Amino acid sequence: SQALIIAVDGPAASGKGTIAARLAKAYGLPFLDTGLLYRAVGLGLLDTGGSLDDAAAAEAVARALDASHLTDTDRLTDRGAGEAASRVAGYPGVRAALLAFQKTFASQPGGAVLDGRDIGTVIAPEAPAKLFVTATAEVRATRRWKQLTGRGEVIAFEDMLADIVRRDERDAGRGAAPMVQAEDAVLLDTTDMDIETAFDAARRIVEAAR
Ligand code: C5P
Repeated sequence: SQALIIAVDGPAASGKGTIAARLAKAYGLPFLDTGLLYRAVGLGLLDTGGSLDDAAAAEAVARALDASHLTDTDRLTDRGAGEAASRVAGYPGVRAALLAFQKTFASQPGGAVLDGRDIGTVIAPEAPAKLFVTATAEVRATRRWKQLTGRGEVIAFEDMLADIVRRDERDAGRGAAPMVQAEDAVLLDTTDMDIETAFDAARRIVEAAR
């Protein structure tokens, strides 16, 4: 059978990560959360005393990154890492340095599931199944706020919402691989869905596409 590549894109806290992980499990496919790559570059840069304004330093960190050994630690998934990630993700050199690893991951014989911002447009435009998962900024901020405060981070809801809106604008507005729904992607708005409902809808989209 044809390789089943499932591309899951969308803004922060839209539910895309959970949906992508569950699709991977359901279809028995390898899964890559590509946001972790950018988060690791952002944190790696800060850890070495570098500035998020320094494109060349960010690119050097991206080139040196061992992308095959990333796990989603609390530190990599916290708020500061998300902000740092979206800053370095705007540098074309950083994106270029992370491209081959992602393309290779996507082209495994049986297929793969990847989630991010540019999977359906840049990393795997050939993917037969593409989802663009979204939700209102208020609902996304509420989800992320519950998640982060639930594990002890202290954040005001208003700051969380401002974070989300700023990150959306930066990701959608950049010149290099901006976040955009691929022409052949199916839009899944999870605003009024719980995770079970969203997963069922995602699965139906994949079934129709493969
Ligand atoms: O998905 P996540 O919130 O972990 O992504 C963190 C940041 O990494 C995003 O805000 C975005 O700037 C960047 N990113 C990207 N392209 C991807 C995945 C993430 O630019 N494929």
